[in-house]
Amino acid sequence: MLGKLLYVLHLLGAVLWVGGMAFALLALRPALAALEPPQRLLVHEGALRRFFLIVWHAMPVLLLTGYALLFGWYGGFAGAGWHIHAMHLTAIIMAGVFVALFTGPWKEFRAAQAAGDRPKAATAMDRIRQLVAMNLGLGLLTVAASAWGRFGG
Ligand code: HEM
Repeated sequence: MLGKLLYVLHLLGAVLWVGGMAFALLALRPALAALEPPQRLLVHEGALRRFFLIVWHAMPVLLLTGYALLFGWYGGFAGAGWHIHAMHLTAIIMAGVFVALFTGPWKEFRAAQAAGDRPKAATAMDRIRQLVAMNLGLGLLTVAASAWGRFGG
């Protein structure tokens, strides 16, 4: 029962984080091209502020439930398959990228927006886009590898 609940929370965390990045990058960003740059940056700021708040909740849930499942179901790293090791590695990288993004370009972006420095804000937003794209690639790879590996492939 507890294992099932942890597994459900694990998958919900993954869906919210990885799915949110896919929406931001593949749907929201191209649609915002229809707006003038100042409005575009404003909408980006509002959308990402809310999304990053979601990630700050989804990411710890994903990591903690992952470790709980690892030790609860497999007794630790030695008993786990390759897909769980791969998931662990990419999750650590993704968490590091997110923290770097949040404390680096996102902070710069918000300061530039507050100061009305549009070119600086646009440069920071481009860096955010690159880091989110990197994490989206890693997230999709993680989901694909974990689903594939579950069946022993
Ligand atoms: C970006 C981070 C992560 C994503 C997107 C992710 C995604 C997934 C997905 C889609 C599954 C279902 C497929 C399956 O059961 O094999 C899963 C299961 C699982 N995950 Fe993760 N995960 C992440 C992080 C972690 C971490 C940090 C750990 C801990 C080392 C972990 C441990 C597990 C375990 C033990 C299972 C059950 C696997 C099984 O029974 O085959 N995950 N994860």
